[in-house]
Amino acid sequence: MNSGSTGLHRSVQLKSFELFARDITEVDVELLHALTVAVRWPHRPADWEFLRQVGQGIVAVDGIGRVFGSAMWFPQGDDFATVGLVITTPRTQAQGAGRWLMTQVFERCGKRHLALNATHAAYPLYVSLGFASEGIVSMRQGKIGKDLPPLPELDGEVTEMPTDRLADIVTLDAQAFGVNREGLIRSLAGIASAMVLWRGGAIVGFSMCREFGRGHLIGPTIARNDLDAAHLTAAHLQSLPGCFVRVDTRENDGLYAGFLDQSGLGAAETVTTMSKGRQFLNRENGQPWVYGLAGHALG
Ligand SMILES: CC(C)(COP(=O)(O)OP(=O)(O)OC[C@H]1O[C@@H](n2cnc3c(N)ncnc32)[C@H](O)[C@@H]1OP(=O)(O)O)[C@@H](O)C(=O)NCCC(=O)NCCS
Repeated sequence: MNSGSTGLHRSVQLKSFELFARDITEVDVELLHALTVAVRWPHRPADWEFLRQVGQGIVAVDGIGRVFGSAMWFPQGDDFATVGLVITTPRTQAQGAGRWLMTQVFERCGKRHLALNATHAAYPLYVSLGFASEGIVSMRQGKIGKDLPPLPELDGEVTEMPTDRLADIVTLDAQAFGVNREGLIRSLAGIASAMVLWRGGAIVGFSMCREFGRGHLIGPTIARNDLDAAHLTAAHLQSLPGCFVRVDTRENDGLYAGFLDQSGLGAAETVTTMSKGRQFLNRENGQPWVYGLAGHALG
């Protein structure tokens, strides 16, 4: 520290400090929570605990253990991972820590193909690291009214998921997501309520709802068409009047998006789905599709 010789200076030059990478499991969850609070994200300590259970990550700490940044990755299958929770505290931003955290992620993910949902703040960084844009995700959220908007009749029936049918939804999810996320889906099933759509004796869609952030998050929602997705989402919403709900979706128009709008779930902000390596989003007509994301970091 250099405060000058007279002691009357009105400013002080502090020494810059070094940040070290530590495993994310080594720090108190409250320090992670402070990170998301600092960038105004809604994660609760319980949300961080869950993310640490289903993924891997690092934190950037200084010499006395204070946390200034984080980055996580969620390996799925043998050759793919989603990346998320890339944060540096406002005080340390624009000094190279975000880029450094990402190089640490690359090193630890090896040859895995990567996908993430980039905020506006992070988009230029990811472009410069070789990520390509594939789509836009709208974060839709709001308080649910007493009455849901009417929907055209459903061909099929929505019920709670029987516990012995988890394998069915793992398969559907893999078809829609493009990679088998069995571990994640099983973990989500432990903390979420799950609804399934039956048609012709088979499960053809599902949707999960769990507590997250300021209220509830509905996703993943996997369906073959807008109407199926809307009915699956409605099955959760009808038990959430007056509650704060969030849905992350790439659907901007059509019946499903209209239903969300009319249910009080207006688009709040957007993130850009980006990939590095092989193309991530591969939608095929009539095939299961990810209508609602499991979360920004989970894809
Ligand atoms: C996005 C974020 C992680 C970037 O972290 P950072 O520590 O500021 O990143 P860096 O200092 O390594 O900067 C990386 C690049 O971002 C850009 N950048 C960073 N701050 C910027 C600023 N204030 N204005 C313009 N560009 C900026 C620059 O292009 C920089 O590239 P350069 O290395 O060629 O100069 C950080 O801003 C953050 O935590 N934001 C809030 C949470 C968030 O949005 N996370 C992203 C989740 S996908």
